[in-house]
Amino acid sequence: MKQRRILVVDDEPEIRRSLAGVLEDEGYRAETAESGEACLDALPGAGFELVLLDIWLPGIDGMEVLERIQAIPFAERPEVVVISGHGSIEAAVKATKLGAFDFLEKPLSIDKTLILVKNAIESKKLRHENVDLKKQLHAKSIIVGDSIPMKALRQQIGLMAPTNGRVLIYGESGTGKELVAHAIHGQSLRQNETFVEVNCAAIPEDLIESELFGHYKGSFPGATADKEGKFQKANGGTLFLDEVGDMSLKTQSKVLRTLEEQRVNPLGGDETIVVDARIIASTNKDLEEEISRGNFREDLFYRLNVIPFFVPPLRDRKEDVPLFARHFLKDLAATYGRRPREITDDAIEALMRYSWPGNVRELRNVIERIVIMNPMTTRFDRKHLPTLVYRDGHRRAARTEFSTLHQARDAYERDFILKKLDENHGNVTRAAEVLGLERSHLYRKMKTLGISVKE
Ligand SMILES: Nc1ncnc2c1ncn2[C@@H]1O[C@H](COP(=O)(O)OP(=O)(O)OP(=O)(O)O)[C@@H](O)[C@H]1O
Ligand SMILES: [Mg+2]
Repeated sequence: MKQRRILVVDDEPEIRRSLAGVLEDEGYRAETAESGEACLDALPGAGFELVLLDIWLPGIDGMEVLERIQAIPFAERPEVVVISGHGSIEAAVKATKLGAFDFLEKPLSIDKTLILVKNAIESKKLRHENVDLKKQLHAKSIIVGDSIPMKALRQQIGLMAPTNGRVLIYGESGTGKELVAHAIHGQSLRQNETFVEVNCAAIPEDLIESELFGHYKGSFPGATADKEGKFQKANGGTLFLDEVGDMSLKTQSKVLRTLEEQRVNPLGGDETIVVDARIIASTNKDLEEEISRGNFREDLFYRLNVIPFFVPPLRDRKEDVPLFARHFLKDLAATYGRRPREITDDAIEALMRYSWPGNVRELRNVIERIVIMNPMTTRFDRKHLPTLVYRDGHRRAARTEFSTLHQARDAYERDFILKKLDENHGNVTRAAEVLGLERSHLYRKMKTLGISVKE
């Protein structure tokens, strides 16, 4: 087991010696310092997890040492337990307000000291784990993309995440709707509460009400115990109703009532329970069309659609393709424990020509596939790409899908400029040179063609 390092700071040699001895007997690694200065000198880079700090010290006193320790970045900051002499309880209390874990009074009781040391180290460990977990969650909801629509989306998320407004996210399958929902929650005031997800398309019709609202034991055959619904689980946090367009009209009316009353009614009881969950819904259907067909309730639509978000399909933001390809390459190589991989410009070009009907998910899958299938390759080329992507890319190069010459020309110009920008790592001046244009002319063109400028 890893030995925990503790620094004992006291000006009395006897206390330093005996405290260090007791701690060593318990399996800790104890070192000592006789002054505040010596303590501050000993800390950097030494990996101490705990400092037992006498408050009354000659020179820099304990209180100031404590304040300086609190200024150390979180990852390296040790926990502090202060030791106070007779009659200095007030100072000890102040120390805990300044961030000390707790205090011990002289004369020291060995049992009490050891319990406190154990708790302080455990608390530090938990706090670190907590921060790591949050970082991991945060990393999961990082939205990649430099195109104008993606920048706008990130800005919109930043603006409305802190409100409690209901959000409806539109977008084709695989565009990143779930990611956006996570990002909104992650930047909201509820970020430390739970994020609960319900996939309305995946749950069978006869189970969805019990899933959403919960049920009481015996309310239907098979209900052998009380069950909490997703609305209750999300209380205080966020409830993500994924594929909300796939809910039956009956379930829709119950959801509507729940939203109106902010209360749920579990199956098999008359009681209603107050719930406070922020609702984020998503759909890949055109809900207004579903309303006109009688498949979706208009009143529910207006309840959900307070803040609409649209995640554009990948084919409308192709300038993000190189970024995505390299991002997933890095991410997936790390996941499979492989060294970082590269991708040639030629392969990137083929990826940019393809239409990506499955959007970002499809691109991620393609990259995952080439990483898995070519364990020895360090540089991926066009020939490593799946035939479909490769061939379709070629065919689309002929550009026959446009009706007017104007449209075809715009599309061609857009792709060509994007390619040159990518070849020149986004440097507009250099791309303009290569293209034989004035820099300002290229800027104007990029603007009319909706290409974002990276500086
Ligand atoms: N902007 C982005 N940055 C990084 N990763 C992304 C981005 N957009 C999508 N992805 C990745 O693409 C995959 C699909 O995204 P997600 O599940 O959020 O899509 P979706 O719109 O909810 O799809 P569906 O409608 O099929 O449920 C995920 O692996 C996600 O992490
Ligand atoms: Mg989804």
